[in-house]
Amino acid sequence: MTAATAPSGSSRPAHRTARPRRYLMCRPSTFEVTYAINPWMDPAKPVDTALAVAQWERLRSLYRDLGHTVELIDPLPGLPDMVYAANGATVVDGKVLGARFRNTERVPEGPAYLAWFRANGYLDCHDPRYVNEGEGDFLVTDSWVLAGHGFRSSRDAHTEAQEFFGRPVVGLQLVDPAYYHLDTALAVLDGDEVMYNPAAFSPGSREVLRRMFPDAVLASAADAAVFGLNAVSDGRHVVLPESATGLMHQLRERGFEPIGVDLSELLKGGGSVKCCTLELRD
Ligand code: ARG
Repeated sequence: MTAATAPSGSSRPAHRTARPRRYLMCRPSTFEVTYAINPWMDPAKPVDTALAVAQWERLRSLYRDLGHTVELIDPLPGLPDMVYAANGATVVDGKVLGARFRNTERVPEGPAYLAWFRANGYLDCHDPRYVNEGEGDFLVTDSWVLAGHGFRSSRDAHTEAQEFFGRPVVGLQLVDPAYYHLDTALAVLDGDEVMYNPAAFSPGSREVLRRMFPDAVLASAADAAVFGLNAVSDGRHVVLPESATGLMHQLRERGFEPIGVDLSELLKGGGSVKCCTLELRD
């Protein structure tokens, strides 16, 4: 894998720099699909838990090979969606905003994740008042916190996050139930650089995104539909579902190194790379 060169005349860096990250993940050893709270979930469709674990283990080793640190939270019985660690909290400057889930099936995950943070030395933890599904709907760029609403997190949670983090929170309205969390429709690549699927947003939010990120990578419907935007970037390597081939090409043109992974079993719960990865910004 070599970094591609940025197109001539472009102000974009030809060589991207990776910054080592710390991630929190949850092994899918009890993963199954027993209920449906998004259009991807079908309890009638069999899930191969052993395969889910194997695919997840490959993602975890990949992060380690890239020089990142991976912390683990134990999965709790009866909470199959705990594997989607991104939903467990939002961590910025070492401050932890806990999650409060919209669907009753996932409600116990909020306190479970918060307990992990308290037990692991995080002193500034906030038990949220309003529904927010962690980094599923809060994505952090250098200048802003981008915040989804429409399906899960509430608008009041955006205000709560802005107050807690002291960073500007920009609300974005999601309109397609297939892209029910912000991290299924948009990914932060580096600094204030993002890629997104315009069709997932309301006309007003699309216009906001266009103004804020005139240079963004825009995903095709086909790449969005294989969860190509559910990606994790360290500033250079972008880990994303391997079937998002168009996005991989677009990313290479920008000087990133896309790395495709197969998380087909986790996709049956409506999540992929980013959903399985919570960034610990200490
Ligand atoms: N089954 C889970 C739900 O619907 C999937 C969550 C995916 N996570 C994410 N960060 N988008 O809540």
